[in-house]
Amino acid sequence: MATDKKIRKSLPPGATLGVLGGGQLGRMFSQAASKMGYRVCVLDPAADSPAAEVSATHIKAGFDDQAALAELARVCDAVTTEFENVPADSLRFLQNSVPVSPPPEAVEIAQNRNREKSFFKDHKLPVNTCVALTDVSQVAVAFESMSGKAVIKTARFGYDGKGQQVCTSAAEAESAFEEFGGVECILEDFVPFDCEVSVVLARDIYGNVETFPVVENQHINGILDLCIVPARVPASVLEQAQAIAASLAEALDYVGVLAIEMFVCGESISLNEIAPRPHNSGHYTMDACNYSQFDQQVRTLIGLPVAKVNLHQPAVMLNVLGDLILSDGFDWKKVQQVSNGHVHIYGKTEARIARKMAHINLLGDNVESLLSEAESLKRL
Ligand SMILES: Nc1ncnc2c1ncn2[C@@H]1O[C@H](COP(=O)(O)OP(=O)(O)OP(=O)(O)O)[C@@H](O)[C@H]1O
Ligand SMILES: [Mg+2]
Repeated sequence: MATDKKIRKSLPPGATLGVLGGGQLGRMFSQAASKMGYRVCVLDPAADSPAAEVSATHIKAGFDDQAALAELARVCDAVTTEFENVPADSLRFLQNSVPVSPPPEAVEIAQNRNREKSFFKDHKLPVNTCVALTDVSQVAVAFESMSGKAVIKTARFGYDGKGQQVCTSAAEAESAFEEFGGVECILEDFVPFDCEVSVVLARDIYGNVETFPVVENQHINGILDLCIVPARVPASVLEQAQAIAASLAEALDYVGVLAIEMFVCGESISLNEIAPRPHNSGHYTMDACNYSQFDQQVRTLIGLPVAKVNLHQPAVMLNVLGDLILSDGFDWKKVQQVSNGHVHIYGKTEARIARKMAHINLLGDNVESLLSEAESLKRL
C-alpha cells in the first residue's frame, strides 16, 4: 500500500529528519534529534559544516538545487530549517512531498523586515515608527517622520548588526541607503530602550504554544554578547512579552520554534524582529530548562505535542566569538574548569573575528553573581 508522506503524523524513532542549513543551530538540532533516536540529513553547500559533522547524512548542495531538494524529500520523513534565508520556494517545493515546518509563508515574512513590520501592524502588535524605502528619493521624507535619530537597515539578509546604520540626519540616511547599494531598506525610529528581551517559543501541529522564560539580551557591536534569565524587567512586561509572542505565533499559524526580539521601554514593549528557528538567545535552555529549544524543534517536527517547560535555575549565557579564541593566552582548559559552566563548542574549523564559535551557559542561584562570573570569564 502506498503511503502519503505528506500527511502529518507522529514519526517513530528511527525516522529521518531533514534540516536545511549546516550551521551551529543545525548541529544542536541534530544532537537533540539523535538523543531521541532520529537520524538527521543536512542539506548545505559547504563540504564540511558544524551540523553535517554530527549528522547521519549530508547532501552537499545549494538551497535552490531542485534535484538535491528532491533527494532530501525522498530520504526524509519531515524537514525543517535552521537558516532563515532559505528560499521560501524551496520549502514549498519540499512541501509537495514531505511535511515541512515552519510554514514557508512565515519564513518569507521573517526574511524581509518590511514584510515583518507590516505583519505586526496588521495584527495590531506593538511596533515603533518605521517606513519602507525602495528609492533614495523617499529617504528624506521618511526621516522627517522620525524623532531625529533613526536606524536604516537593509530589508533582507542582515544579521549580527550587519547592513544597518544609526543616522541623525536625512543626508546620513541617504548616503547609507546608497552605500547599501540602493536595495530595499527600512527606516526605523531609534528606540531609546531600557533593555532588549526575547521570547523563544514552540508551537505544535495541534496549535499548542509553549513559551520559554523571557530572556534579557545584551549586545556588543551589534552582536549578542550575554543573555540573562530571568530577564530583569517588571512582571507586567514578562506577561506582555509572552502574550505578544504567543499571539504572533498563532497569527502566523506557526509550527516549530520561533524567536521574537523586543525592545522594552519602562512597562511598554515594541517588536523588533522575529527568527523562524531556534535562536542564540534560547541557548540557555540547553542546560537551564527541562527541555531545550532544540528538543522542542524536534518534538514539533515529529508531530509530538510541545513539552511543558520549566526553568531549573537562573542562567547567564555568554557567546564565545572568534575574537576571544584568537586573543593572547586564550585557553579552553580555563573555560572548561568553571564548574557551573556548560560549554557548547560548534566545531568550526576556523576562528574568525566576530564569528560565533561556542557558548557557555552559567547556572547559579542569582543572575547578579552569574554576571560578575561572566565578566571574569571574559578576562581569563
Ligand atoms: N530601531 C532601533 N532602535 C534602537 N536600537 C536598535 C534598533 N534596531 C536595532 N537596534 C539595535 O541593533 C541590534 C541589532 O538589530 P536587529 O536585531 O534589527 O538586526 P540583526 O542584524 O538582525 O541582529 P541579530 O542577528 O543579532 O538579531 C538590536 O538588537 C539593537 O540593539
Ligand atoms: Mg536581532
